[in-house]
Amino acid sequence: MNYKVALLPGDGIGPEVMAEAVKIIERVKTIYEFDIKFSRADVGGCAIDSSGTALPPETLKTCEQSHAILFGSVGGPKWENLPPEKQPERGALLPLRKHFNLYCNLRPARIFKSLASASPLKPSIVKDGFDILCVRELTGGIYFGQPKGREGTGPSEKAWDTLVYSRMEIERIAHHAFKAAKNRRRIVTSVDKANVLTSMVLWRETVIEVAKQYPGVTLNHIYVDNATMQLVKDPHQFDVLLCPNMFGDIISDECAMITGSMGLLASASLNEKNFGLFEPAGGSAPDIAGKGIANPIAQILSAAMMLRYSLGQPKAADAIVAAVAKVLDQGILTADLAPDSRSAVSTVEMGDAILAAI
Ligand code: NAD
Ligand code: IPM
Ligand code: MN
Repeated sequence: MNYKVALLPGDGIGPEVMAEAVKIIERVKTIYEFDIKFSRADVGGCAIDSSGTALPPETLKTCEQSHAILFGSVGGPKWENLPPEKQPERGALLPLRKHFNLYCNLRPARIFKSLASASPLKPSIVKDGFDILCVRELTGGIYFGQPKGREGTGPSEKAWDTLVYSRMEIERIAHHAFKAAKNRRRIVTSVDKANVLTSMVLWRETVIEVAKQYPGVTLNHIYVDNATMQLVKDPHQFDVLLCPNMFGDIISDECAMITGSMGLLASASLNEKNFGLFEPAGGSAPDIAGKGIANPIAQILSAAMMLRYSLGQPKAADAIVAAVAKVLDQGILTADLAPDSRSAVSTVEMGDAILAAI
């Protein structure tokens, strides 16, 4: 098979970790005998700098002509003073998600055995391990609800966003959560705030309706505040976490960190045709960008998700995941995971180690 992939490294650590992911893909495509043609394009802050807009028309066209998008990260202090809609996040990433209808965001957070001591949780909590799949609704909710606005000056100045969900939007993401749970531990925990928000009452009612089509799967409901607490108390209780857009954003960072680092969490953002944008759940990490120390694993595992979900190459994806686990087992760790910085490997060294393990 010949695939076309749009490569959008973006800003900050994006290009650094992307280089490692590309290296790994080049290797597996030789072993598993398929071809990928990468088309590199600017997105985010670097696109603002080069062409004045975060999502240039050529970049969008490149994405439209591809089978998948491999995305790094966008944003950073340099662009934070631009009008909000022009900034990398709202000017490029959110429009890409909306344009391709990427409503289903999968963020798998599992603790690698060898990383138990890197988790900020006590050994007594992580000893049973955990394997959580965040299924986050990605094109609705308060991120996209209209109206949004701002008016006035002085103490009466105000600004607003709208949290709105249609039954259809809730149904389609709930189906993804239940289908995923069928192949896992068969528990869906729906995260909401139905005790306060009307949109979340509809969320809960709709999830209950969808659950009737999956009698083998247990459905639990949890309020988002309790969910953040239970995640640090006993993550093992969760299997699939079904989240509205903003709660999923918040919960997934927490899930990433309890596995040991933000630099471990991959993500797939899919539409109904399994076209997808694949990106680390974390951001451009301005605090470490340019130092060559970022953890490339989230980007590499995002590439594996791309091979699995959009390009139909599950064996190549499995090989990458196994290589990552092997390297971590060997105690090869970047600075975010290493017990002391002297023993840490660089971004490139981590990529090389994973390459060697494939
Ligand atoms: P961040 O995820 O970039 O960083 C949070 C912390 O996690 C930092 O200490 C960072 O060093 C660490 N971290 C993240 N990825 C890491 C990695 N691969 N290896 C080691 N450490 C890692 O979040 P932030 O600081 O809130 O955001 C920075 C910028 O990134 C902002 O402009 C934000 O909007 C943007 N952002 C972009 C995306 C995206 O493009 N998908 C996602 C999240 C945030
Ligand atoms: C993420 C990020 C994005 C989000 C931002 C950068 C728009 O935090 O993918 O988790 O909030 O969805
Ligand atoms: Mn986020």
